[in-house]
Amino acid sequence: MDQLNQVLGLAISEIADINSLHDLEQLKARYVGKQGAITAFMQKLKDIAPEERKAFGAEVNKIKTSFEEVLNNKKDELVAKELAAKLANETIDVSLDGRGIERGSLHPVSLTLDRLVKLFAQLGFAVADGPEIETDYYNFKALNIPDNHPARAMQDTFYTESGNVLRTHTSPIQIRYAEKRTPPIKIIAPGRVFRVDMDATHSPMFHQMELLWIDKGISFANLKAVIIEFMRKFFEDDSLQVRFRASFFPFTEPSAEIDIYFAKTGKWLEVGGCGMVHPNVLNYMNISSEEYSGFAFGFGIDRLAMLKYEITDLRLMFENDLDFLRQFKGC
Ligand code: DAH
Repeated sequence: MDQLNQVLGLAISEIADINSLHDLEQLKARYVGKQGAITAFMQKLKDIAPEERKAFGAEVNKIKTSFEEVLNNKKDELVAKELAAKLANETIDVSLDGRGIERGSLHPVSLTLDRLVKLFAQLGFAVADGPEIETDYYNFKALNIPDNHPARAMQDTFYTESGNVLRTHTSPIQIRYAEKRTPPIKIIAPGRVFRVDMDATHSPMFHQMELLWIDKGISFANLKAVIIEFMRKFFEDDSLQVRFRASFFPFTEPSAEIDIYFAKTGKWLEVGGCGMVHPNVLNYMNISSEEYSGFAFGFGIDRLAMLKYEITDLRLMFENDLDFLRQFKGC
């Protein structure tokens, strides 16, 4: 009995010194495992006189129960300590800034397109659309561009295997829109266009906008008024000088190129083409050239965006460089 109590005393003092669950498990094995010190007393039972056996057995069980109670208390204590340490380690500071998701911004071409649509809406123009893969008829023929016209040459136009073209301009939308309607017709038509060309000022894909206004009595004076008003609004300069330079396009007669004067550089810059819709084109539109007249106007959206935001290389527009694009935040 004394030995038993000594073993228990030793076990209790050892348990008091233990600091980890791992060490506690090992200690448990040393006392109540197969070869354990307390287990050994159980095994002694068979050597004890039968009349003392019961009392001894009860005593060993008592000691074992006491041992397990102390051990379990220690275990609870260690589990709580480890949990507290883990919580302290993994504390989340809820007042810290989040990682955040960077907010994107509109591409300069989209920004410009949005402005253009708004400006022309104020002047009463609706938006029309057309396909990027066009037939020869809409891209060339119905625009009075003859078979031998240089614009049809292989080096300018992307042809599909089936004999269609990637539209080289937005002008075919004029025909598609007008052939199904009767005037008044008053539209803008923005879109992607494609040409075999690539350098600092040319890209194989770029954006154009077309304008078409057909009604009774539309004259070159209307053309000038709309284009001058538009340019001044777009560049936010009420005294911007706009110049119309006689030119040639197959689909307009007379035709002009439009220049604007940049006071900053002291230079005239070409920004688009325009003219009175050619009678042949009105014919293709099923519109009587006796009754109606109209004007058309076409320009590069990317080019206007470059002038507006002072971008010097067209390729920047299509490289998706984030440092470039981030500069348009808040525009
Ligand atoms: N389609 C012409 C081009 O791509 C631009 C153009 C010129 C459009 C004169 C017009 C116009 O509507 O009247 O170069």
